[in-house]
Amino acid sequence: MTNLASPFDPATGCTSTSRYADGACRSTAPVAPRVAMAVDPQRHGPKALVTGAAQGIGAALARSLRRRGLDLILVDRQADRLSALGRSLGAQTVAMDLSARDAVSDLSVALEGQEVGLIVHNAAISTVAPLAETEPAVLEETLAVNARVPLLLTRALLPKMLARRRGGIVFLSSLAALHGAPELAAYSATRGFTLSLGESLWGELRGTGVDVLVACPGATDTEGFRATEPDPRMLRFTPLATPEVVAEEVLDALGSDGPTRLLGGANRAAEAVLGRLPRRLAARFMAANLRRLYRR
Ligand SMILES: NC(=O)c1ccc[n+]([C@@H]2O[C@H](COP(=O)([O-])OP(=O)(O)OC[C@H]3O[C@@H](n4cnc5c(N)ncnc54)[C@H](OP(=O)(O)O)[C@@H]3O)[C@@H](O)[C@H]2O)c1
Repeated sequence: MTNLASPFDPATGCTSTSRYADGACRSTAPVAPRVAMAVDPQRHGPKALVTGAAQGIGAALARSLRRRGLDLILVDRQADRLSALGRSLGAQTVAMDLSARDAVSDLSVALEGQEVGLIVHNAAISTVAPLAETEPAVLEETLAVNARVPLLLTRALLPKMLARRRGGIVFLSSLAALHGAPELAAYSATRGFTLSLGESLWGELRGTGVDVLVACPGATDTEGFRATEPDPRMLRFTPLATPEVVAEEVLDALGSDGPTRLLGGANRAAEAVLGRLPRRLAARFMAANLRRLYRR
């Protein structure tokens, strides 16, 4: 009944193509049409929530979402940088530690009465170290930020999206979710969690008007990536994406691609090879590559 270009009339809740021959609109709550093959304020607005927005890919996503006409709610634990970005974008900011036990319920209180049409689960912790040498507290924090928050925050905000019959959820994951990533075990495992969560929801929510995308960037030039101390010699052979290019590709893909988008031609080419290998060989390739990247 609807097509990609059908105009949506918020007053009647109809699209021109959802009317019957007599002009009547039979459904009072139609699924919002896809007026654009990308993030769109009518389908994914009015407010987008971005976690981990103070820097890197999250900040680039926030800027791009603002340019695309969405209002913003930005969350991060770097209070000063967050409020500077919030001021420059006219955004609401919530400075908080997402690893705190009550983070999702506290955030839900801060969001009360707001129409969040898009959630971008971007915040993540990546620690490069052998598992046996990683403090359990760091693993708890990684589990909370990378897995618990995306799961419970989606649970908290999804019912209202379903009631409105429109919305969007973006899960940032990683190529590290697809194959084992030695010395990044907790990161790789929790990125795998968001990959499975997003792909599951993509299937579960089809036809509801809520779009889901799992986005897997490759190595991207952010402070978070630089903080893992990759070998500069290796970076000469590793094409780093910019956060801005990653953000545009993610937001262009929501609603038109899915469930999972590997970002960047180089990553898609690498995965085209890795994905065809037996898992044992792919894991060995990843181990050798990461050992070189982190000089182990
Ligand atoms: N950069 C890459 O190469 C790459 C590759 C593949 C996938 N990704 C994915 O892309 C996303 C963004 O990556 P990025 O490199 O832009 O990250 P980033 O530079 O590390 O930025 C992440 C932001 O999230 C914040 N954050 C972390 N833990 C938090 C917590 N407990 N509470 C509140 N805020 C918290 C960070 O604050 P702090 O600085 O204080 O921690 C930081 O501001 C992640 O989901 C990552 O898995 C990145």
